[in-house]
Amino acid sequence: MELKNDLLVRAARGERTERTPVWLMRQAGRILPEYRAVRNSLSGFVELVQNPELAAEVTIQPVDILGVDAAIIFSDILVIPEAMGLPYEMVEKKGPWFPKTISSHDDLAKLKVADVPSDLGYVLEAIKVTKKELAGRVPLIGFAGAPWTIFCYMIEGQGSKTFSKARKMLYNEPVLSDQLLQMITDSTIAYLKAQIEAGANVVQLFDSWAGILSSAQYQQFSMKYIAQICDAIDEVPLTVFAKGAYFARPEMRHLNCRTIGLDWNMGISESRRLIGEGKTLQGNLDPCALYGSTAEIENATKKMLDAFGPEKHIANLGHGVYPDIDPEKVKIFVQTVKEYSSQMRSV
Ligand code: CP3
Repeated sequence: MELKNDLLVRAARGERTERTPVWLMRQAGRILPEYRAVRNSLSGFVELVQNPELAAEVTIQPVDILGVDAAIIFSDILVIPEAMGLPYEMVEKKGPWFPKTISSHDDLAKLKVADVPSDLGYVLEAIKVTKKELAGRVPLIGFAGAPWTIFCYMIEGQGSKTFSKARKMLYNEPVLSDQLLQMITDSTIAYLKAQIEAGANVVQLFDSWAGILSSAQYQQFSMKYIAQICDAIDEVPLTVFAKGAYFARPEMRHLNCRTIGLDWNMGISESRRLIGEGKTLQGNLDPCALYGSTAEIENATKKMLDAFGPEKHIANLGHGVYPDIDPEKVKIFVQTVKEYSSQMRSV
């Protein structure tokens, strides 16, 4: 099926576009009452993720309601630990929780590399249903967590401000850490390839906990595995979003990927200089800017667009949209990107 709106794919490849494409990280779910309604019809989050028809429905909601230029498949980065042998639960108002975690070589020996068709077939099915229902309206983004971020949850077993258990593991058990990170990497490569095979037009790696490592540890325990994934995926453009990894931008220039996501702390012109002209940049409005007035959101969005310039940019926030943001404010952001970036090209 040919895409009617392929702005995102073309911008990711570095091609000129009529205007800047826009979508929001975490756009599927949380902020939309329409999502809550579907979610509340089931017993929980995991049930929704594993239901391809309903997952497709909530994937498409932001395209209909917010007018974004891409859909992102409704799932979670935590489906990989589950497929490897560590199931997760999503505790209301608290977040993810793992009954079993990894703390020894014996624990590691019980894990396996994900068998994607059998363990994650429900995601592949959700992608196929979504593609059919989207009928080429916009591209579909597939995703996975970066190995380091997945490692954090598999060691810690839940969210944390410091992930000090996971970081302790890097010091005390570097060999075990490497083995686990490699198993996650192998699972992730197979998973992303299967998502692409099922219909994903672009894929993104979320390294949400990149910013808690030192620069040297980031190279050793995160970038190394991200580079393997980038080298393995050449079917569609890949985006690496490493939140807080401002120190790794010079090395990101050398990753075999098309797009680098920026968080809102990363200066735009400085990032362009460090990462180079060869990549498309994605981001990076402060998610909190959407708590502002209409005029404030418009001004902040225009300022961001001016700083990135008209090419090699995919507009987004600097992290996922916060759950209590008014969807009307999101529409102002989306509309401003569409209008202002069209004007930028006509002058
Ligand atoms: O719209 C989308 O982006 C697609 C769906 C998506 C979800 N999670 C659904 C979800 C995506 C891309 C993710 C990624 C994800 N999950 C990340 C990386 C991005 C980031 O925000 O840094 C991380 C770290 C997770 C792990 C996770 N899942 C946490 C920490 C939580 C609880 C807190 C929270 O963010 O809501 C989740 C739950 C989750 N994942 C929800 C949704 C819609 C909310 C749960 C619910 O609806 O009950």
